[in-house]
Order: sequence, then C-alpha cells, then structure tokens
Amino acid sequence: MASQEDVFKKLVSHCKEYGFVFPSSEIYDGLAAVYDYGQNGVELKNNIKKYWWDSMVLLHENVVGIDAAIFMHPTTWKASGHVDAFNDPLIDNKDSKKRYRADVLIEDLIAKYDEKIDKECEKAAKKFGDSFDREMFCATNGRVKEYVEKRDAIHSRFVNAMEANDLAELKQIIVDNEIVCPISGTKNWTDVRQFNLMFSTEMGSTADGAMKVYLRPETAQGIFVNFLNVQKTGRLKVPFGICQIGKAFRNEIVARQFIFRMREFEQMEMQFFVRPGEELKWFEHWKQFRLRWHKALGLGDEKYRFHDHEKLAHYANAATDIEFQMPFGFKEVEGIHSRTDFDLSSHEKYSGKNIKYFDPEINQSYTPYVIETSIGVDRMFLSIMSAAYCEEQLEGGDSRVVLKLPPVLAPIKACVMPLVKKDGLPEKAREILNSLKFDFKCSYDEKDSIGKRYRRQDAIGTPFCITVDHQTIEDNCVTIRYRDTMLQERVEIDKLHSIIADAVNMKNLFKKIVNQ
Ligand code: GAP
Repeated sequence: MASQEDVFKKLVSHCKEYGFVFPSSEIYDGLAAVYDYGQNGVELKNNIKKYWWDSMVLLHENVVGIDAAIFMHPTTWKASGHVDAFNDPLIDNKDSKKRYRADVLIEDLIAKYDEKIDKECEKAAKKFGDSFDREMFCATNGRVKEYVEKRDAIHSRFVNAMEANDLAELKQIIVDNEIVCPISGTKNWTDVRQFNLMFSTEMGSTADGAMKVYLRPETAQGIFVNFLNVQKTGRLKVPFGICQIGKAFRNEIVARQFIFRMREFEQMEMQFFVRPGEELKWFEHWKQFRLRWHKALGLGDEKYRFHDHEKLAHYANAATDIEFQMPFGFKEVEGIHSRTDFDLSSHEKYSGKNIKYFDPEINQSYTPYVIETSIGVDRMFLSIMSAAYCEEQLEGGDSRVVLKLPPVLAPIKACVMPLVKKDGLPEKAREILNSLKFDFKCSYDEKDSIGKRYRRQDAIGTPFCITVDHQTIEDNCVTIRYRDTMLQERVEIDKLHSIIADAVNMKNLFKKIVNQ
C-alpha cells in the first residue's frame, strides 16, 4: 500500500496535471508558497465559496456580507495587535544560510518523540492483544518511559518559553537537544529573533514621503472597522453577523505542504456580534453549526475533530479549531474564537470614535462581544481534494484515478459525449448540452474511445457522463454513467435535468445542516 506521503505527492501532481492548481509564475520556476488555480480548480473553489456564503447569508436572516478593501489604514493593524505581536520566532543556520521557525524545529522534535512512543506502543499492543494498557506500558517500559520523560520535559520548557516570549530559552532548547539543520546537518545557529509576518508596501508619494501600508493578514479587521456602518445602514439588531470572503497575506517562513500554508491565501470569515455575557452560548452554537456544515459534504464524519485551545490569546475567552484528517495528519482547517470585545474596543481607542451599540431592548449602550468563525478556502480545497482522491483497481486488471468529489462541488457536473463523430450524434449531443448549460457547468468531449473519455472525467470528478449513440436518434434516450459506481443506465433525455439537479442542489446540504 502507498504511504500517505506518496498519496500526497500524487495528489499534488494530479492537481497540476488536471488543471486544478499550478505553481505561481511557473515559467520562472515558481514563487515559494504562492499558487494559481486552473480551469477546474477555480470552479471547485467558487463552489466552496458559494456553499459557505449561502450557508451564512441565506440560512441566517441576521447575517449579511461585505467586501472590504485589502488595504486598510495602517492604524488598523496597530489597534488589532498585528504590528506588535503578529510575529514568528526565527533562527538561521549559519552554514546552510537557511531560516527556520524556532518553535517549529522544537515541535518537530516533540513530534519525533511522539512517533517513537506510538511505534513502541503499537508493537506492544500487537504482542499483548486485548490486555494491552497503554498508560501502564508507558509508565513501566524502560525505553518508552525514557522517551515520555524526555518529550514531556522538552514540551514543558517549550510552553513556558513561548508563554514568556523568552527567545534565549527557545535557542537554548534547540542547543540542549542538539537539533541540527536538515540541510547542512550542523548545529551552528544564530540567536532567535522575532519576525513580523505582515507584508508591507508604500502608498502614494508625497513630499513628506509615502505612507507604509500592509497587505491584510486577515479579513476580519475589514468587518470590525465597518461594524457601525453595516449595523446602522442595515438597521441590524444584536445578535447579528457580518461575513466576508477575501484574500489575506502572510510572509510565512515555514511554507510547506502545498496549499496548506501559503503566503497569499483566501479566508471566509464571519464576526457574530452578541450581548456581553451571551458569548459562550453563541460560541457553542457556531461551533456545532460549522461542524455540521463540514460534515454535510459527506467526506466522512471520522475525518473531523475539534481541538480546543488550552492556551488562549489574551483577548479570547474560548477557542477551538476544526481539524481535518489530511494525508499528513489531523490539521486545522477552521478556527472558531470567542474574541470578547477586544477588537471593537481597541478600534474605539485608536480611532477616538464611538463604536458602541445601543440595544433598544434593554435600553443600554455597550461594546458587543464577538464570536468569529474563520476558515481558509485553500485549506478547505485541500481537505476536499485529499478526501476525494482515490486510486481504484478494477476488474480485468485495469485501474483508474477518480476524484470522488461531492457532486455539489464538482467543477463539471456532466460531460456529454457522442459515441462517434458522425451520423448526427455530435449535433444531438450539442443539443443536450445546450439544454443543460443554463443550469449546470457541463462539457463536451468527442475525442478518443468512450473508455478514455470516462477516465478523463473521473480524474476531474465529473459525477455524470452522458453518451449519445445511434439508438438515441430513434428513442430519445441516452446512457448515463455514474462516476462512483461506474454503473450505466438508459434514461430519457427529458429526465437528465432532474437527475443532475437532485445530485448537485446545495439545498439538500443546507437542509441537512439546519435539520440536525
Ligand atoms: N481572523 C482569525 C484568523 O485569521 P487564523 O487561525 O490565523 O485566524 C484562520 O486563520 C484560517 O485561515 C485557518 O484556520 C486556515 O484555514 C487559514 N489560514 C491561515 N493561515 C494560512 C496560510 N498561511 N495559508 C493558507 N491558509 C491559512
């Protein structure tokens, strides 16, 4: 069986080969951690965004959307804390001249100990069968006990150093544990320094000089600074939400795992404004709603889990991640945070403007508390692609690569194919295509054998192939072939629309989310 690492490599090349994701400016050898979406990728991405947007603004009469600019007044980022605290601790290896995140080097070391412990436990579990007690084994087996003690000691030093923002201690952990540079293999490290993740540029050009502006590192602040604009013009009453989809930029140092960690990416965020004191109730509400949104796609309930944060940011009073089982382990796809009144209060302070809300029901003015849901479009894209990618052995020794995408998200819903390029079949096929194209993204393919055409559609996840043959001219029936089962059946042309509509209608997913 192929390792998860191999599967991931294959997925990355599949994304390129079939027009989903290309390295950015590839003819110039690409740009690290920046990617372009191709003809199929953009359809899938747009469908993800529509699924999210409609689940927010159609399903909730108290949630509205905005589209704020990427550039914002620089004081925004002072108020949000990003200028002072949006940092990663970096360390350079003097021999390879490579730069690393010090925290990631240490986390990788801890992960290595975890792997060793897991391996020993797996071996022992096989040996002892049902009577195996992991806790007891870790506490008593000499070698494992030593691993656990070392791991825990590093972990607790690491947590303390991060909490105290102690850069010298981070370096000392690296030195004490003899962590080497993966490129040079040496321990010749610089000191650890803080590095701000925001990209900056200059706006305008005046006699006094240009103004330094930032590319936004999150879309959320565009919502906070527009809180009163939207509330007043929309006559909205707390509780209500504002959502937005847009690009965000971070100068990530450890940029790896394809589109998992990018320097330019897209976020889908919602800030939900509530009365102070009611935030934890709403936090739980949105946590469950967002998990239902993910699960409704049918990628497998077991692939999701919550990861509640133990260490909270100073402004948060609850936070969790929704993690998805990627080929490289469970990873964060979405964050849900109870952000208190930190952002609105801070903008009030820095702008000198009153950003309070008057609540007519209790006759009081206050700064609302906020629940944030924040999901990366690209990470969602990656999670869907990794769950959908499938290599299948078929009867007769044949094999196929199929993307079992949820039909509602598939880039192309149906491909219409004339069996041969003559006898009026192409014309009939185009007639069918023309009748479907107002409602569904469809394609037409008349090249190569039908088998090859099916494979091409399987590889991009098209749920339906519709074949027009000589019989069609006589009985107005076509063969419809289902992607996942490969079953084929004869159906009347008039029924095609409703068969496709039933499978790709987002309403079916929305009903699942709302009715659970
Ligand atoms: N406003 C809150 C916020 O930005 P975050 O946890 O930093 O929180 C939210 O980011 C989501 O954005 C993440 O769960 C992830 O899906 C996505 N994201 C963050 N950094 C990313 C990156 N470098 N590349 C791709 N997606 C990223």
